[in-house]
Amino acid sequence: MSEIRHVAVMTSGGDSPGMNAAIRAVVRSGYHYNLEVFGVRQAYLGLCNSDIERLDTRDVGGIIQKGGTILQTARMPEFKEDNNQRLAVRRLNEHGIDALIVVGGDGSLAGALALHKRGVKVIGIPGSIDNDIWGTDMSIGVDTALDTILESVDRLRDTASSHERVFLVEVMGRNCGHLAIVSALVTGAEYALIPEVPVTMEDLGKGIEEAYLKGKSHAMIIVAEGANLKVLDIAKYLNEHDIGFEVRTTVLGHVVRGGRPTCFDRLLATRLGVEAVEALIAGKSGIMMASEGRSIVERSLEDVIGNKRDLNPHYAELAEILTR
Ligand code: ADP
Ligand code: F6P
Repeated sequence: MSEIRHVAVMTSGGDSPGMNAAIRAVVRSGYHYNLEVFGVRQAYLGLCNSDIERLDTRDVGGIIQKGGTILQTARMPEFKEDNNQRLAVRRLNEHGIDALIVVGGDGSLAGALALHKRGVKVIGIPGSIDNDIWGTDMSIGVDTALDTILESVDRLRDTASSHERVFLVEVMGRNCGHLAIVSALVTGAEYALIPEVPVTMEDLGKGIEEAYLKGKSHAMIIVAEGANLKVLDIAKYLNEHDIGFEVRTTVLGHVVRGGRPTCFDRLLATRLGVEAVEALIAGKSGIMMASEGRSIVERSLEDVIGNKRDLNPHYAELAEILTR
C-alpha cells in the first residue's frame, strides 16, 4: 500500500508542446492507482500563492492534442530563495499534498531538486523545446518544435531560391544548438551556427560567397539564438560585403514553441507521466524520468542538474559533410 494519497502536478519554465499530454497521463494514472490528483497553476509562483485545484479525470479530456499547458506556467526567479521554498513546502502541507510532479526544463528541475532536499517527494519530467536537459535522449516538445522549424524553413527556401537570396533564420534553443543543427541537417541548409561551435564573420562570409560562386541559387543559414553571431549583425556584414546574394532575416521565435504536439511528443509525455506516478508509488523521489533508446529510465535530479548535456558530436560531423 502506497503512503502517497495526494499528488500534485505542475508545468514550469517555457511551455512546450506535449505538456498537456503529460498532465493528462499523471491525472489518469493517478486515479488508476487510487490517488487524488491536484494541479498547481502557474508553476512555483502559483504554488507559493496557493493556486492549487483538484483535477478530475474529466478535466484532462480533450487536451492531449493541444499545445501550451492548461495549468499555465510562469518564471519565478525568486524561487531560488530559501523563504519561497519554505513557503512552497508549507503550501503543499496546507493542501495535504504528499508528492509533486514537475514538468519543465533544467531550471524547473533545479526547483524540484530544492524541494526534494526540503523533504518533499518530487519527480521531474523533462519538458522543454531546447533539448538541453542532461540524462534524457529527448525532452517533451523538441520533436514538435523541430517539425515547426522544418515547415518554416521549407517555405522560406521557396522564396530564397526564387530570388537568389541568403536567408538567415534564427531559432530558439537558449544556449543549446540542438534545434539549429538538427533542423539544418534535415532541411539541407548550407550552415548551422550554434553556440557550441563559434565562427568568425569573415569565415561565414567567405563560405557564403563560395556558395554563390559555385552557382548555388540561394543559401539557408540556421542561426541558434545562442550562437556567437547574431542574425542582424550577420545581415549587416553580408550587406556591406558584396557576397552575391541578397540577404533577408527571419526570427522564428515563439512560433516554434506552440502548436499541436507530434505523435512522438504525445507518446513520450504519456509514458513519462505514467512512469512518474508509478515511481512515486514505489517510494521514489529526487529523480527525473528520462528516455533512453526505447526505454524510460530514472536519473537522479542531482545528476541532471550537476551535468551539462553535450550536443551529439555526430551531428556536427554530419553537418560538415552535408551542409555545403
Ligand atoms: P526552464 O525550466 O524551462 O529551464 P527557467 O530556467 O526559467 O526555465 O526556470 C523555470 C523556473 O524554475 C524559474 O523561474 C524558477 O522559478 C525555477 N528555478 C530555476 N532555477 C532554480 C534554482 N536554481 N533553484 C530553485 N528554483 C529554480
Ligand atoms: O527554454 C525555452 C525557451 O523557448 C528558449 O528557447 C528561449 O531562450 C526562452 O525559452 C524564451 O523565453 P521567454 O518565453 O520567457 O521569452
